[in-house]
Amino acid sequence: MMSPGSQENNSDQEVEVTLRPQTLKEYIGQSQIKKNLSIFIEAAKKRNDPLEHILIHGSPGLGKTTLANIIAKECAVNIKITSGPALEKQGDIAAILSSLKNRDILFIDEIHRLKPAIEEVLYTAMEDFGIDLVIGKGPSARTMRLKLPKFTLIGATTKMSMLSSPLRDRFGSVLHLNFYDDNDICTIIERSAKLLNCNIENSAGSLLATASRNTPRIANRLLRRIRDFKDYYGHDIITTALVADALKELGIDELGLDETDRQILKTIIDKFKGGPVGLNTIAASICAEESTIEEVYEPFLLKLGMMERTPRGRLATENAYKHLGMSIIS
Ligand SMILES: Nc1ncnc2c1ncn2[C@@H]1O[C@H](COP(=O)(O)OP(=O)(O)OP(=O)(O)O)[C@@H](O)[C@H]1O
Ligand SMILES: [Mg+2]
Repeated sequence: MMSPGSQENNSDQEVEVTLRPQTLKEYIGQSQIKKNLSIFIEAAKKRNDPLEHILIHGSPGLGKTTLANIIAKECAVNIKITSGPALEKQGDIAAILSSLKNRDILFIDEIHRLKPAIEEVLYTAMEDFGIDLVIGKGPSARTMRLKLPKFTLIGATTKMSMLSSPLRDRFGSVLHLNFYDDNDICTIIERSAKLLNCNIENSAGSLLATASRNTPRIANRLLRRIRDFKDYYGHDIITTALVADALKELGIDELGLDETDRQILKTIIDKFKGGPVGLNTIAASICAEESTIEEVYEPFLLKLGMMERTPRGRLATENAYKHLGMSIIS
């Protein structure tokens, strides 16, 4: 199943890379973040210092990886990329850290999934630019500090609450990526359409934007799917009618909700009288992973005001009943 935030298949991924903005200027929206970042970057350059460690937080597909790569480009330094789950042993992180050069960037994706032992190595690396190595065994064991170059760690996470506070506190700044507004998504669609050599009517772009869950990755993916419909039917431009038809075929409604979103809301309403109901119960009812619901589906349902989080579980709101055409029974 292709979930809204999911990564794409291989050829889709290749296209996604070509659509990736390369500079802060090309990165659409998130204006406050871009403004602050360009100040941090310029100031660090003037002082000839490495950039301070940066934590980027936001839902899947909002542009965390893209931004990390842009920061490296703007600073004109190398970037090494790894992820929380990929680092298994302390030796893995030690090897990466010691291969860095002064001012290089280390990007750790899904940083909330780091093992505690690896986090510990990072603490000293981030704070003192060193790693403590244990040499020998038993009573004669001693530690030796290996000096590291002054690097910048960029961490990305979809789940801030899972990050330990000692780790969080070692970042010099935290950037929260918000959902994009419709205008920004329209601009992203226009830019991508141009890069794909694909003609699209303005109003078709707007309709596509409203179904894109305010998320660039989804906007780009829907554009590629609708381009398939355009090419299949031999049209030379994407029209509003084509977008409307294609969205229907793809099972995506006018707000961008897909079958799983609707299933989540329907389950809360039908099986649990509108809630509150625990996330694990919802996940079991629709045979989905709890973390997928929490990280991929729920943020947008919360944003639309269709769902609420309470200490006792999730609630479907009046908006959800209205959208699904169901009536509230109290
Ligand atoms: N601000 C932006 N302007 C234009 N395009 C963007 C922007 N942000 C993201 N994109 C597009 O959306 C795609 C997805 O972004 P990216 O892979 O950086 O998201 P992510 O936050 O790292 O997602 P995940 O949490 O799944 O790792 C990119 O390939 C890029 O084409
Ligand atoms: Mg990413």
